Amino acid sequence: MRHLMSPLDFTVEELDKLLNLANDIEKNPEKYAHACDGKKIATLFYEPSTRTRLSFEAAMLNLGGSVLGFSSADSSSAAKGESVADTIRIVSCYADICAMRHPKEGAPLVASLKSSIPVINAGDGGHQHPTQTLTDLLTIRSLKGRLDNLTIGLCGDLKFGRTVHSLIHALVRYPNVRFVLISPEELRIPDYIREDVLKRNNQDFREVVRLEDALPELDLLYMTRVQKERFFNEEDYVRMKDFYILDKAKMKLAGPDMLVLHPLPRVNEISVEVDDDPRAVYFKQVQYGVYVRMALILTLLEVEVC
Ligand code: NCD
Repeated sequence: MRHLMSPLDFTVEELDKLLNLANDIEKNPEKYAHACDGKKIATLFYEPSTRTRLSFEAAMLNLGGSVLGFSSADSSSAAKGESVADTIRIVSCYADICAMRHPKEGAPLVASLKSSIPVINAGDGGHQHPTQTLTDLLTIRSLKGRLDNLTIGLCGDLKFGRTVHSLIHALVRYPNVRFVLISPEELRIPDYIREDVLKRNNQDFREVVRLEDALPELDLLYMTRVQKERFFNEEDYVRMKDFYILDKAKMKLAGPDMLVLHPLPRVNEISVEVDDDPRAVYFKQVQYGVYVRMALILTLLEVEVC
C-alpha cells in the first residue's frame, strides 16, 4: 500500500505516468466515470480549505465513488482530544482512501503509519502540499509542453508557503530549471530548503526582493499569498501582506509567454485586473487539480482502466 506525503514519493517516471493519466482523463472523462464505483474517499480536514477538499471530493465523485469526512477540527472528535493516530484507525474502517490536511507538520505521516488505507497529505502546516504540486506540474506541462528548461519565479511568502516547498522539491529533478526566489527578507525560503535541496542539487537559483527585477526573464511566475495563519503576531502580517501586488503595469515587464500561476486563495497579491490577461492561468490550474487528483486516486487504489 502506498501513501503520498511528499512529491518525492513518486519517481520522475512515475510522475510522468501519473500526468499522462491525468491528461487522458481530461480528454476522455467518460472512460473513467465508473472506475471507482463502490469506493469511498474520506477527507479529514483539520484546517480550512476550499479547493483541495472540494477537488478531492469532485475527483472521487467523477470516478463514480462517494465521499465522507469533516471540514474542521471542531466538528470532529479532535475537539474531544482524539489523536490523529486513533482517528485514522477508525476512518480505515469506513473508507478506501483518505486525504488529510492538518496544521501540524508531520500529522499525515503519523496517520499513514497507523493506517490500513492509503493516506494523502493534503497540506501539513508550513511543510508540504504534494497534491498542489501535482496540480502545478500538470498545469505547467500541459500549457508549456515541458517541465525542463524553465526559469521559474516563486514570489511571496517563501518561508511559510508549503506549496512552494513542495514545488521546489519536485522541480529540482528536471534538467535546466532555474529558480528566482522573490520575497521580502523576512519571508525568504527556509534554510533547510536552500541548503538541503537547492544547494545540494547544485541548483541554479538566486534570491531577490524586487519582483520588477525578475519579471523580464521568467517563463513562469508562481505567486503566493502571505500565510497569515502561520504568523506569530498580527503586526508582522499586516506589514508583509501587501508587499507584492501583481498588476497590469507589472505584467507589461514580462514576456508574452510568461504564465502566472497561483495555488489560490488569492488575497491582494494579484490584482483582479490581471485575471483577463491570457497569461494568467490560475483558474485553469484549478481544473487541472481535479484531473490530477482523479489520476492520483486511481494510482493509489491500483485501479486500472483499459
Ligand atoms: C494553498 C495551501 O493550502 O497551502 N492552498 C491550496 O491548497 N490551494 C495555498 C494557500 O493557502 O495560500
